[in-house]
Amino acid sequence: MCGIVGYVGPQQATPILIAGLRRLEYRGYDSAGIAVVGPRGTQVLRCQGKLAGLEAMIAREPPEGTLGIGHTRWATHGRPSEANAHPHKAGGVSVIHNGIIENYLPLRARLQAAGRKFASETDTEIVAHLIDEALLAGAPSLVEALRVALRQVHGAYALVAISEKHPGQIVAAKNASPLVVGLGQGETFLASDVPAMLEHTREVIFLDEGDVVAVTAEGATLSDLDGKPLARPVRTITWDAAQAEKGGYPHFMLKEIFEQPRAIADTLRGRLLLEAHDADLEGFEIDPRGLRRVLLLACGTSYHAGLIGKFLIEGAARIPCEVDLASEFRYRDPVVGPEDLVIVISQSGETADTLAAVKEARARGARVLAISNVVDSAIPRASNGVLYTHAGPEIGVASTKCFTAQLAALALIAIHMGRRSGQLGPEAATKLVGELALTPTKMTEALEGLGDLKQLAREYRYARDFLFIGRGTNYPIALEGALKLKEISYIHAEGYAAGEMKHGPIALIDDGVPVVVLAPRGPGYEKVLSNLAEVRARNGHIIGIGTQGDAQLAGLCDRVLSIPDAPAALQPFLTVLPLQLMSYAIAVAKGNDVDQPRNLAKSVTVE
Ligand code: F6R
Repeated sequence: MCGIVGYVGPQQATPILIAGLRRLEYRGYDSAGIAVVGPRGTQVLRCQGKLAGLEAMIAREPPEGTLGIGHTRWATHGRPSEANAHPHKAGGVSVIHNGIIENYLPLRARLQAAGRKFASETDTEIVAHLIDEALLAGAPSLVEALRVALRQVHGAYALVAISEKHPGQIVAAKNASPLVVGLGQGETFLASDVPAMLEHTREVIFLDEGDVVAVTAEGATLSDLDGKPLARPVRTITWDAAQAEKGGYPHFMLKEIFEQPRAIADTLRGRLLLEAHDADLEGFEIDPRGLRRVLLLACGTSYHAGLIGKFLIEGAARIPCEVDLASEFRYRDPVVGPEDLVIVISQSGETADTLAAVKEARARGARVLAISNVVDSAIPRASNGVLYTHAGPEIGVASTKCFTAQLAALALIAIHMGRRSGQLGPEAATKLVGELALTPTKMTEALEGLGDLKQLAREYRYARDFLFIGRGTNYPIALEGALKLKEISYIHAEGYAAGEMKHGPIALIDDGVPVVVLAPRGPGYEKVLSNLAEVRARNGHIIGIGTQGDAQLAGLCDRVLSIPDAPAALQPFLTVLPLQLMSYAIAVAKGNDVDQPRNLAKSVTVE
């Protein structure tokens, strides 16, 4: 997830671009850059790190010109560095991009064979070359050259390009990454999100998938990939800038909950191989045949993802998995060695305990694969390989979209290992790959169906204790539901394996203790219903999480929150959603600071 801005009009572009990027810093902040076209040709300034670094460069040599583009980066391909910062240039063409070009490696090889030199490790730079190549081959306009380039790339993009030989215009295209045009008086703007332009205009056009646009100071001309003219409605934005940054949501956490289908789709993109029924781990090959076991290490919510990873990997590859808290592993003289694969999971990539666990495992000879959302952070750097989740920056302290993106990464690893172990046959692999590909759509359906849960929150906000119970893949979700509620609503909550209730926790049940029962249809369903009956018999209040249309469950619960049907291995992607929304709604009903709960920090770099 990156931030994009563009400006053409009568004013100096640089201050407008910088103010826009400042508003988009929440989308990424590991490097930034601008390209401005003026009397001195195209001036490109780029800087690793936060925007302040770029501003200092601009103060030293302010670029002049009334047309420009700017970018704030959240690295996906290529580490955060000045060379990988956007804009990328080829010939007279400069390009900025938000998204992932899946087929950039073969395209890069073809362009290199044609004699083109690359200055970065990014997928974006190939687009600058493709546009330049099309112009040299006689494309009649910049927008047509962009179309020629787009016909060659697969993936997700919001792309914006300018060319020294085509002054006065900016061209852009959208597919699966956001892009908005802002219409001013004699000036036009482009951005990934409306906050970047709200100071200047409230009249905007939200581009749709496959839209291509040519922008001048006079306005925007829209067309499709074949050049057929398009019309899109002009909308008037009524949000203030702070609301707009949260996409109109009152909190980042809620925005991030609703971003999950996109985060999963981006994490699977280019890696889930539908036709080969396989998963590509971007160069990290795992040969399960020589492995003794897999060890999954993490803290907090990421540890819960690890618990689900055990089900996924054991289910697909039949290799024993152990899951451990990184903070425990590192201090217990662990039995680990070269015959083990260690998978460490850390959203921030900086958690001190997880980093220490990586060092411990490597010192004992194990190979370590990291799953992280932050490119080039300490944990991926200390590991042998990394599979990045593409959730985009998570601002809310309570992790939501990074958790489900971690599950997507673990599912990819499971498929990869299953195929190579010979345990996941072609038929089962086709089924799993197909179901995983459907997951983002099912998540959207679930989120749309659940509503805002305000009424439920009003009923339960004064509860002193909450219990969450589930079985199989939904036991870790019970733990995660309890953690979410504790973190942001400050209500005491416990997660239990449903079968454990009668071994102790059932003593806690009395009139009115809310018990969240994870009971989607699938293996263990009947058993969970028996556990539910035990709670009911003791007058607990039951909130059931069940499969859409399950009348039997509805008859046994005080409230039911429904999700679409899914195979057991992939149910956690869906069952966690009502729990995230419920914790959020209760925290809001209690008036708590949802995005920055007390005593917590987004990355825990102390032991
Ligand atoms: C809970 C939460 C924490 C983190 C934990 C590990 O919502 O965010 O429990 O999961 O601090 O953090 P990472 O994944 O950054 O290593």
